[in-house]
Amino acid sequence: MRIFVTGGAGYIGSICVEELLNAGHQVTVFDNLTEGHRSAIDPRADFAQGDLLDPQGLQAALRAAGAEAVMHFAANALVGESMSNPTKYFRNNVTGGMHLLEAMNECGVKKIVFSSTCATFGTPERVPIDETLPQRPINPYGESKLIFEQMLRWYDEIHGIKSVALRYFNAAGASARFGEDHRIETHLIPNVLKVALGQKPNVSIFGTDYETPDGTCVRDYIHILDLAQAHMLALGREASAKYNLGTGGGTSVREIITACERVTGRKIEVLEQPRRSGDPARLIASSERIHSELGWAPKFQAIDPIIESAWAWHLRHPNGYGD
Ligand code: UFG
Repeated sequence: MRIFVTGGAGYIGSICVEELLNAGHQVTVFDNLTEGHRSAIDPRADFAQGDLLDPQGLQAALRAAGAEAVMHFAANALVGESMSNPTKYFRNNVTGGMHLLEAMNECGVKKIVFSSTCATFGTPERVPIDETLPQRPINPYGESKLIFEQMLRWYDEIHGIKSVALRYFNAAGASARFGEDHRIETHLIPNVLKVALGQKPNVSIFGTDYETPDGTCVRDYIHILDLAQAHMLALGREASAKYNLGTGGGTSVREIITACERVTGRKIEVLEQPRRSGDPARLIASSERIHSELGWAPKFQAIDPIIESAWAWHLRHPNGYGD
């Protein structure tokens, strides 16, 4: 298929593009390069530099790509930043997303796979989190993604655009070529690996008094290649759907740090800090629905191989993409 990938120069987008190309699809990456990196774009893909907030440019790029489907990764995705600058999140994630749906409608593109998030659930009543739990975001980032999920319903009912929303839990790891390099790095695993590389003296542990076995937050880390595989399967689904996407396993912050010490063979100094605002104690996915409906199952369950792939990439790219 010919696929138009917004945010294809970012961490998750770049690796999904690589997997799409490996599977024989044709890809046009659409990215404004504010968060993404030029060298994270697979050279086999076409590249259209542009912004979701420029509806004419967006529509022209989508038409020129001759796309049959869209994968929508482009978004701002920092929970903390969204709490201080909600406008940025609603403008880029909601208004920008609406321009994309409008452009799809104008160009007759009837399929979208959307990069959603477990942050649409807020603090869950129970874990694992399945699709029947209420979505009650606790920050503008999660809200902006939920609003887009809700818009998808109406673009299906009114314009027949079919969508699959994938709510990722904690994406982690790397492919052989592409990895995680955020301009502002807030995520746990890359920050721990920066300590292992000697680029930071220590890593903060945000909160040691959670109601979890070791007092630190528990997350469901899913390998980026498993996540990419789910996108591939989502392309083949005809009806609209929403799926939670994780391994169903939970790893605490301390367990991540210990695993990074094991994988890198280096000591990681830690600094115990107060809780970070907006962090739920435990986020674990139930991926039963995507398993039963699309046959998806993660190849990576244990945390060490996920960290090994991230470490291999960081060793080869100690300064990330260098831009
Ligand atoms: N953490 C630390 N030290 C750090 C960085 C993170 O202790 O230096 C902790 C966090 O407090 C959290 C856990 O490690 O408990 C994981 O944090 P990340 O920032 O790596 O990931 P989050 O779980 O906060 O974020 C993920 C996705 C978001 C999504 C969010 C939903 O990256 O896109 O889950 O809560 F919105």
